[in-house]
Amino acid sequence: MAEIIDGKTIAESVNEEVRHQIGKLDERPRLAMILVGDDPASSVYVQRKIDTCRKVGIETISARLDPDTDEQSLLSMIESFNSSSSFNGILVQLPLPEQINVKHVIEAINPAKDVDGFHPVNIGRLSVRSSVPYLHPCTPWGIMHMLDTVYERTEHHSGLQGKRVVVIGQSNIVGRPLSIMLQNDGATVHMCDKYTPDLLDEVQGVDIIISAVGVPGLLNKKMIEATGRDDVTIIDAGITKKDKKVVGDADPEIYEQVGYYTPVPGGVGPVTVAFLMRNVVKAYHIQNNLPVPSLPWKTDDNNIS
Ligand code: GUN
Repeated sequence: MAEIIDGKTIAESVNEEVRHQIGKLDERPRLAMILVGDDPASSVYVQRKIDTCRKVGIETISARLDPDTDEQSLLSMIESFNSSSSFNGILVQLPLPEQINVKHVIEAINPAKDVDGFHPVNIGRLSVRSSVPYLHPCTPWGIMHMLDTVYERTEHHSGLQGKRVVVIGQSNIVGRPLSIMLQNDGATVHMCDKYTPDLLDEVQGVDIIISAVGVPGLLNKKMIEATGRDDVTIIDAGITKKDKKVVGDADPEIYEQVGYYTPVPGGVGPVTVAFLMRNVVKAYHIQNNLPVPSLPWKTDDNNIS
């Protein structure tokens, strides 16, 4: 019978550690959050982030801008947060309305305040395994931490060395940075997407399947059978609203056929928010030239290979 990787419990322990680290600082870290438009799902996500900030001791201000806000107005607001020493982190909730170029927005954020870890400077540092402290994208970082609970990391070895991983979905938010983190930890990574001719051919013999595409049922019984294994680990980072319920990419039927799995809801989602909290505290340390405290259970930089 499969074991659950319980995102809620993992997130609580990360949040507790973050709360503890904030207790040792001279002042509370501050996060500025910007939401453009009135997308209901984005509003829910932002509210969840605000609530978690309150729980761990991060101060927030949130700006809600009209759906027809132009790009220059948003860039000016980002610039004011960039230049204010009162704010340690800046987060612009995605997606943005079509009149705004998301790449311009991401690149406008000061990389030291980029708590989403999306800025090319932060992604570049991740890619070259920089020893300079930088900010990691939260969902992939959270997924790496969830994998640590299954594939135990030691001081000298990542538990992922030599593991065969298929990542489905090549987004800048999840799939691409995650593939880099997995490679940095010594995994053999195979990237797939909606153009992959036959996913069933690609999953044969793999240890781990990670899906982040937002297609319910993409991970189904046939796919698990195609792995030829009964102990594969499934990480489900897909989120779709279906019949008023939030569902992932995995059909829950497969849970009994696998080794470990993350549920939806209660899997990757809460861990992503916890690692956002972690990034705000990390940003505070970086900006104040303080040594970044590492998490007790994991090295911060994926430098093992
Ligand atoms: N929209 C969906 N996921 C994310 C995320 O991780 N950060 C931001 N800013 N927007 C998102």
